Amino acid sequence: MNLKNTATGLLVILFLIAGNLVLAQSGKIYMVKANELKADIQPTMWGVFFEDINLGADGGIYAELVKNRSFEFTTPLMGWTIKRKQFTEGDVLVLNRKESNTANPRYLQVTVKDAVKGTLSLINEGFRGMGIKNGLRYDFSVMFRQKTAGVKLHVNLIDPKGDVIGEAQFTPEATGNEWKKQAVSFTATATEPKAKLCIWFEGTGVIDLDMISLFPGDTWKNRPGGFRADMVQMLADMKPGFIRFPGGCIVEGRDLNNRYQWKKTIGPIEDRQLIMNRWNTEFAHRPTPDYFQTFGLGFFEYFQLAEDIGAEPLPILNCGMACQFNTAESVALDEIGPYVQDALDLIEFANGDVTTKWGKIRADMGHPKPFNLKMMGVGNENWGPQYLERLRIFRKAIKDKYPDFKLVCSSGTDPNGDRFDYLNGELRKMNADLIDEHYYRGPEWFTQNVTRYDNYPRNASKIFAGEYAAQSDKIASPDNKNNLLTAISEAAFMTGLERNADVVNMASYAPLFAHVEGWQWTPDLIWVDNLHVYGTPNYYVQKLFSLYKGTNVVPLLLNNQTVTGQDGTFGTACIDTKTNEIIVKFVNAASKAQDVSFVINGVKKLQSKGIVTELTSDHPDDINTMDHPGNIEPKDQNVVVKNKTVKLSAKPYSLNVIRVKML
Ligand code: AHR
Repeated sequence: MNLKNTATGLLVILFLIAGNLVLAQSGKIYMVKANELKADIQPTMWGVFFEDINLGADGGIYAELVKNRSFEFTTPLMGWTIKRKQFTEGDVLVLNRKESNTANPRYLQVTVKDAVKGTLSLINEGFRGMGIKNGLRYDFSVMFRQKTAGVKLHVNLIDPKGDVIGEAQFTPEATGNEWKKQAVSFTATATEPKAKLCIWFEGTGVIDLDMISLFPGDTWKNRPGGFRADMVQMLADMKPGFIRFPGGCIVEGRDLNNRYQWKKTIGPIEDRQLIMNRWNTEFAHRPTPDYFQTFGLGFFEYFQLAEDIGAEPLPILNCGMACQFNTAESVALDEIGPYVQDALDLIEFANGDVTTKWGKIRADMGHPKPFNLKMMGVGNENWGPQYLERLRIFRKAIKDKYPDFKLVCSSGTDPNGDRFDYLNGELRKMNADLIDEHYYRGPEWFTQNVTRYDNYPRNASKIFAGEYAAQSDKIASPDNKNNLLTAISEAAFMTGLERNADVVNMASYAPLFAHVEGWQWTPDLIWVDNLHVYGTPNYYVQKLFSLYKGTNVVPLLLNNQTVTGQDGTFGTACIDTKTNEIIVKFVNAASKAQDVSFVINGVKKLQSKGIVTELTSDHPDDINTMDHPGNIEPKDQNVVVKNKTVKLSAKPYSLNVIRVKML
């Protein structure tokens, strides 16, 4: 054995091992300058955008199970089936009383004679069925009128085989010419995603029926006629800074007649005049003929929802223009008065004391305290000089009366191009409070535009990134997927929003909810069926940014440069003065893992242990599904903090949120 050679060989091996260790430990070193506060992060920074699209409200968060409960759909009996054993002409009539009730003209008149089970029943199919839970209370109610008593109503929940899984009955009294509301509750005996409501008649008589309604007993905060608690919980869990509502294009409507009018969405539920949801007909590839807005989720409920989840309300109002992709109908300038008055009255409805006209209406609805509305959007995706003409009128009227009230203004449909440039320029000349920018683009746009706001003017109009979502296929394509790649590219882009928090004051993903059997638009943040709900990877990105938004941006540097895509990495850092934490959001958008270190400067002492929350999966195409809702979800791990340094092996396509306590 040649000892000399062996020794040399051992040295070489030791050298190689040591070298590898050094390599493994070094990776890239990112510097956090925790004592250099760059920008305040607004409490409103990360919010949500609710639009009644994809059965988001009716058939979604609004927990009503009966579809077309007041027979006001264009086809009056859509959603209903009449089953008769013997047929008498005119035994079920749709009657119209529009002279005496313009908001809710239609009702059903049922005539029965010696009826027994099986003679005559009305069956409602629900919104793609009704999701029913075993052991849960269900609240049935109906408005009725009958001259003489004689008809008994049997209320059954039936499963797809026709078996009864819940039942109640009641015998309505005689009411003469008066309408009366009656309710009855019962408990379901099985869980069924596709149940139907069957009402069958017993006895003899003529009865008028309207507002046939069924709600589960487990609504959010147990409010009667309320919301699906599981869906609201998903929002509450995000702790959003604001909620933008009610749209989106539904604010504009196909034409002005079809626009969203908040005054028609408040007060007694039976007086809220239903309209067709514009997504009903929008996409030939996703027709939804049974999509209407009943406004059970109206403006009072939106404000209440905002309050419940601790979010600032941000209503968007029609600016006197219908959707410019559809009819582009605009109100004549000399007739814009009522539109502007709607905006002024909305502020009074939200904030006015109970002695004001609209403040009293709010109080009568159960909320004497003001909702403390601070801002409003005028127009959704409106563009052109005709938008500015109308916006200026709104702006003058609102600012004259409420000088501190903030207005969100539209920059159109796209984040660049002639329309955007024109509006952006003009809005800045007007010193607009907030400019609403929308981006529906491919994942690469999001990573390439992480520096978009680095050179925006600092002491001028602020930005509201009001709608954004990476499209895995293309805009409005039914093939778009909420996959890991889109989520990670959004996370990368969001580091740029946070880094520029002095310019970007608010941001929200779009759209929020989609029913797996009733959607028109994808991708969407949260998907539901009649009984379940799951978050997409994009949801978890939004949630992580929002939960750990921090209070002040501090520099995160790589070789003295901000982290804007070097080797596919993106990042931002902030401190949270409330929790005394340093927070680093680090995105590895590359297809390989990267070993990195974060050195935290400018702090006296750090806790020796931090937490890293990781969001990733094996493949960029991975998605969550109803069957595998937790495929991609955040996972917490402890990390060692040594010499003010945190080391991380950032997986391919991962978002990593590191939190370390300052001592
Ligand atoms: O989010 C879907 C639609 O996209 C919104 O209604 C509209 O504002 C945008 O064009």
